[in-house]
Amino acid sequence: MILALLTDGADQFTSGEAVSGKLGLSRAAVWKHVESLRRKGYRIEAVSSKGYRLLEIPDRLTPLELTAHLETEEIGRTIHYRDSLESTNELAFQLAVEGAAHGEVVLADQQTRGKGRRGRSWVSPPGKNLYCSVILRPELIPQRAPELTLVAAVAVAAALREFGAEAQIKWPNDLLLNGRKVAGILTELSAEQDRIHFAVLGIGVNLNGEPSEFPEELRSTATSVRHELGTPVVRAAFAAAMWAHLEEWLRRHGERGFGPVRDAWKEISATLGKKVLVKSERIELQGVAEDIDETGALLVRTAPGTVERVVAGDLEQAVAARE
Ligand code: BTN
Repeated sequence: MILALLTDGADQFTSGEAVSGKLGLSRAAVWKHVESLRRKGYRIEAVSSKGYRLLEIPDRLTPLELTAHLETEEIGRTIHYRDSLESTNELAFQLAVEGAAHGEVVLADQQTRGKGRRGRSWVSPPGKNLYCSVILRPELIPQRAPELTLVAAVAVAAALREFGAEAQIKWPNDLLLNGRKVAGILTELSAEQDRIHFAVLGIGVNLNGEPSEFPEELRSTATSVRHELGTPVVRAAFAAAMWAHLEEWLRRHGERGFGPVRDAWKEISATLGKKVLVKSERIELQGVAEDIDETGALLVRTAPGTVERVVAGDLEQAVAARE
């Protein structure tokens, strides 16, 4: 595909001959493709003695843009893209019920009713950020499903770090940049007693939005990569990198279990060692977050000699450095 060849060529010219040779197309057909890419917003320089050079990629998220970046075998090889959706998780869930395969992804430029954890909403304006849901069909017992969310958190953090953003993870799966939330994960499950039918991993990453676009109550706690780093992120490139990390971490998890995920999670945790207040439907407790156990539950020391195990909840944590 021409786009992939030109992307591989980075800022160098790729000769028309090389393009037509590799793709088995006539020079005229190559020119037609270039023209159609230009109509889609790609800026491609054409110099008769040198060939073609890609100058600018439009920041779109359609399968065409994404395929040029994809390095995965399964995740994102089938993409259901929509300009606008209520929620990518909703469509992914529906597609999975209808039989969609492991690795299929639903992706939207904007969401009109993006869902956050615990019934909250996820602000999802068009043109700036990433909203996707990955369908997984893991061979896991349902009791181990929470591990998947931590696998995803480690993978999203790895992608953010690849793009220069030193993300940390706040238990269980909020991604923070300089102490503010930059991404969130919402996992939804269809399972019976002893079998997971599928899991939908909903991932929202604030890439290029500005905190001023968030509702008042989120402005001091949310941020975006662009806001923190000062440079925009090409969404398709980020999505492809994130799925590659996800595929890699899922493979590791499948082969070696939760141990390596737990180690990676702990390494970049923003929570361990902090004073925390945990609120869930059932409990409220305060203490120091000491560790996560082999299932991903948070271990909180509430008093000398007493450690509580927390499997779900919201966390308020001290902003101070590790104690
Ligand atoms: C959180 O509350 O931290 C989880 C936020 C998850 C948001 C993502 S955006 C893509 C996917 N579709 C949704 O409706 N929600 C998730």
